[in-house]
Amino acid sequence: MYKLIAFDAYGTLFDVYSMGELAEQIFPGHGQALSLMWRDRQIEYTRLVTMSDPNPGGSKYYLPFWDITIRSLHYVCKRMALELSVENEKLLLDQYAKLTSFEDSKFVLQEIKRRQVSTAILSNGSREMLSTVVQSNGLSPYLDKVVTVEDVRLFKTAPQAYELLLKAFPVAKKEILFVSSNAWDALAAKWYGFDVFWVNRLGHPFEEIGEKPNYEGISLSQVLEVI
Ligand code: LAC
Repeated sequence: MYKLIAFDAYGTLFDVYSMGELAEQIFPGHGQALSLMWRDRQIEYTRLVTMSDPNPGGSKYYLPFWDITIRSLHYVCKRMALELSVENEKLLLDQYAKLTSFEDSKFVLQEIKRRQVSTAILSNGSREMLSTVVQSNGLSPYLDKVVTVEDVRLFKTAPQAYELLLKAFPVAKKEILFVSSNAWDALAAKWYGFDVFWVNRLGHPFEEIGEKPNYEGISLSQVLEVI
């Protein structure tokens, strides 16, 4: 029934929270807090940029997600009073650029392709960072397209970001299943009109506003049960 399964990238196919382990080696006792705050600040900046100029032609405050990732790291280190040396910054960013995918990411993409359904990423990530992380995990052969919000210069959850999938594939809204581990992303995609699968690996509650996702599972593999 679905013709396209579209995945969020960071946190969904790629394990952003693995950054906590490296951060812990660099800043013992602070790794977990740093990685969580880093992620929150990164998403906060995407919202600030998008909401402050929600122009369909793109926000004048737009910065590529890679720049936002670096600036949010700087913010968090300052906020936590942690001195970030040039070498340690490089270590963190090199790992971020080549984040490992979750153990079932490749298998799930392969299996969807085997069933002759299209696959895509729809991500806030900039083109270059997405291309690096997709290639370093060997996922390129199993993805029909990697769609980035760089084309609209507005981040998710702007509707123009989700709309990119309809521009990239000749399918109707209801023929798309959007998969995200970020509850806010799942909620916004549902509001946009996609069916949604929320990958809830950590057993968190869903958002308290809006509609519930169509499907919920504790791993990416469970997506295969609903398509
Ligand atoms: C993405 C982030 C938001 O890949 O997870 O779009």
